[in-house]
Amino acid sequence: MKRIVALVSGRGSNLQAIHQACLQQAWPAAVVAVVSNRPGAGALDYAAQHGIATAVVDHRSQPSREAFDDALAQVVDAHAPDLLVLAGFMRILGASFVQRYQGRMLNIHPSLLPAFPGLHTHRRALEAGCQAAGATVHFVTPELDHGPIVMQSVVPVRPGDDEDSLAARVLATEHSIYPLAVRWFVEGKLQIEQGRVRQTDGASQVLI
Ligand code: GAR
Repeated sequence: MKRIVALVSGRGSNLQAIHQACLQQAWPAAVVAVVSNRPGAGALDYAAQHGIATAVVDHRSQPSREAFDDALAQVVDAHAPDLLVLAGFMRILGASFVQRYQGRMLNIHPSLLPAFPGLHTHRRALEAGCQAAGATVHFVTPELDHGPIVMQSVVPVRPGDDEDSLAARVLATEHSIYPLAVRWFVEGKLQIEQGRVRQTDGASQVLI
């Protein structure tokens, strides 16, 4: 049974999608803890309602980035995770934290990486005149929103789209690709070869 710890900052719809898929598809895994850097995160309510352990490591109460990372690692390690999933976690993690969990930490980012790392992805995609947008699940490396790509989803940008309508279209696909990527991980079906991720069944790693 693989132990999954989720790091969150907000509403937690991706956490919910992963947790529900885990239960409904009887993965050899369990979401054992949800850790937030924001005390009021909706994801914490979802976790508490579903009997998942919760913890808050408030970045504002830590004297430095390093201190925050250390406090976070201590809380995370107490749950002995096999996999960390960043599910709307909006803090930049330092290199030593990332290296500690390298190869067992996934993130979802709402763009077709390597385009638009960082914030305001949908606004930037619209401003650039992109005809397609999407989301990326990737292994986390010290470089922000970078790292071996597990799966991507692609959606059209439609005339009249604004940030909200595009974000909603992308988010709906996040709820498909993130659970799938996590499932592959816990089933041992992901291999990283020369910085590229191979799904060992040969399953498609793009959702269009
Ligand atoms: C999602 O769109 C996720 O891709 C994004 O935050 C949202 C969280 O929603 N993550 C990032 O921007 C990370 N760089 P959720 O809390 O409902 O899962």
